[in-house]
Amino acid sequence: MALITKAIRGTQDVLPSESAAWQYIERTALSVARDYGFREIRTLVFEHTELFTRSVGETTDVVQKEMYTFDDKGGRSITLRPEGTAGAMRLLLEHGLHNEVLPVKVAYVTSCYRYEKPQAGRLREFHQFGVESYGAGSPLADAEVIALADATLRALSVTGVTLRLNSIGCPTCRAEYHKALTAYFEGKKDELCGTCQDRLGRNPMRILDCKSPVCSAIAADAPVITDYLCDDCVAHFEKVQAYLTAAEIPFELDPHIVRGLDYYTRTVFEFVSDALGAQAVLCGGGRYDGLCEEMGGPHLPALGFAMGLERLLMVLKAQNAALPEEPRCEVYFASMGEAAAQKCFMLAKGLREGGVTAECDTVGRGLKAQMKYADKLGALYTVVVGDNELESGTAKLKDMQTGETTEIALDDSLYTTLYNKSLDRQLAGVADLLREGLEA
Ligand code: HAM
Repeated sequence: MALITKAIRGTQDVLPSESAAWQYIERTALSVARDYGFREIRTLVFEHTELFTRSVGETTDVVQKEMYTFDDKGGRSITLRPEGTAGAMRLLLEHGLHNEVLPVKVAYVTSCYRYEKPQAGRLREFHQFGVESYGAGSPLADAEVIALADATLRALSVTGVTLRLNSIGCPTCRAEYHKALTAYFEGKKDELCGTCQDRLGRNPMRILDCKSPVCSAIAADAPVITDYLCDDCVAHFEKVQAYLTAAEIPFELDPHIVRGLDYYTRTVFEFVSDALGAQAVLCGGGRYDGLCEEMGGPHLPALGFAMGLERLLMVLKAQNAALPEEPRCEVYFASMGEAAAQKCFMLAKGLREGGVTAECDTVGRGLKAQMKYADKLGALYTVVVGDNELESGTAKLKDMQTGETTEIALDDSLYTTLYNKSLDRQLAGVADLLREGLEA
């Protein structure tokens, strides 16, 4: 029979062979975030549509073209989250976290949904690791969040990445800039795409990140925001740069970074990778001091970033980075006969309770087929149990890497022996990692 359906275009399953790499990236990112004082939140996969139209902005590509929006059975308009910032802010306000001691710092790993044209590094369902810091208006907070993104990429040994930095000012300096942009684009209005002609009167900055080649070419010569920054925004931006320089985090100034979402103010940044081709942005973020009020809350300075996990994996694969691999099976118990099968089941259960990965036969294979299976699993040790072993209470423990065999008792002492071997292996792994870290 033909398969009922296939996965939706632009989505990717995670297979058993890939999940260790995903777990490693998520664990590492959240652990670096924790070192910086960011605690994990889990936001909702869907929200009221208005949350995104109000925060991300009605004239952005995300809202105009890319959201998965539908009416639920109660007739309410619902949207699958296209990004994490809006839902995190809703969570903060709804649970009153902004009334706690500030800054409140949160981190998340979430799936996101955007109806974009799929290509390498651009998916319709993708995953982000993100952080948000609420209540800190000082440029030190900008430097802290950027340092965290940098530290995450370094903890994952990502190389070939450049940090690009810009300031897109506050509503005061933005008003002057909008006038200059409008004047510039008015002269070329007929050449712009239909969406951008509409944006011209409503939000000319969005023309700067239109993906159409004609609009991008026109936007390349448009006035840049950095020429219109007010004194406060200039001072803030200079301090961010000074703190990054002091922390030895290299960056390049790029006046063309405006980000594709409306909520940003002042500092914006992107980490771009030379291994990603067209979708080079690995991580994007910035300050959004007006969003909390826009969503009905108090004035609350805020900032954050998100990095795409699929893009991170692409970069690590392109670098041939060694991703950690856990053995699928540390000990395989092969059995001959019903009584031995039951004994092996009990021994495997005991080892598993101590955190050792153990397997035994559950499909009724013969001994030869069981050993073949153990080999496929990459078992580090095997123990064969038959009538003789049951009678003598001992069996042979075979080290599958060296071929060496030793006698092992089929009682509680077996657990101690094998727990210790597992622990030694893990300690050796940690020592290797530490040594590699020291050498790097
Ligand atoms: P964003 O730039 O839209 O920012 O997305 C952040 C990252 O998500 C991108 O740099 C990219 O790695 C990944 N990404 C975005 N779209 C796709 C896609 N279609 N397929 C695969 N990966 C993708 C935000 O989402 C903001 N919420 C970031 C932020 C947090 N700003 C402040 N706080």
